[in-house]
Amino acid sequence: MTRALFISLVSCLLVAKQAKSQVLGRCAVAKLLFEEGADGFEGYYLSDWLCLAFVESGFNISKINENADGSFDYGIFQINSHYWCNDYRSHSENLCHVDCQELLNSNLLSAINCAKRIVSGGGGMNNWIEWKLHCLGRPLAHWMTGCHL
Ligand SMILES: *[C@@H]1O[C@H](CO)[C@@H](O)[C@H](O)[C@H]1NC(C)=O
Repeated sequence: MTRALFISLVSCLLVAKQAKSQVLGRCAVAKLLFEEGADGFEGYYLSDWLCLAFVESGFNISKINENADGSFDYGIFQINSHYWCNDYRSHSENLCHVDCQELLNSNLLSAINCAKRIVSGGGGMNNWIEWKLHCLGRPLAHWMTGCHL
């Protein structure tokens, strides 16, 4: 293989990898949450949702994390495949009736809908350990600073 061909192949692969992982802006996430009726849902406001999304994924909608028990966490809210979505590689209750890959969609529709289901099932956002550690009981209004919806 020529050197030039090799280099263009490698840069193609790099571009493909970048396109796959996507980090959304804070206010873009706020807008999508607002449009899906998350503001005030079960007593949680946009600033609560933003804190949750940030501590779970840093707004990386492509984030996938493997857990010690063999399950995986998907997307902006790091939704777990053992209980909430089906990833066809580990046992799942699939309580959100959704394909885990769909939770990575950049329109956030499935991710927000599944997160709402988790929030309304008892315990609210306390279902997310990172929420309890970093968001619960803290002032969160600053998360909405500069976001005009
Ligand atoms: C987003 O998550 C994907 C999958 O976990 C990871 O490969 C990628 O590096 C992350 N992107 C950023 C900017 O952290």
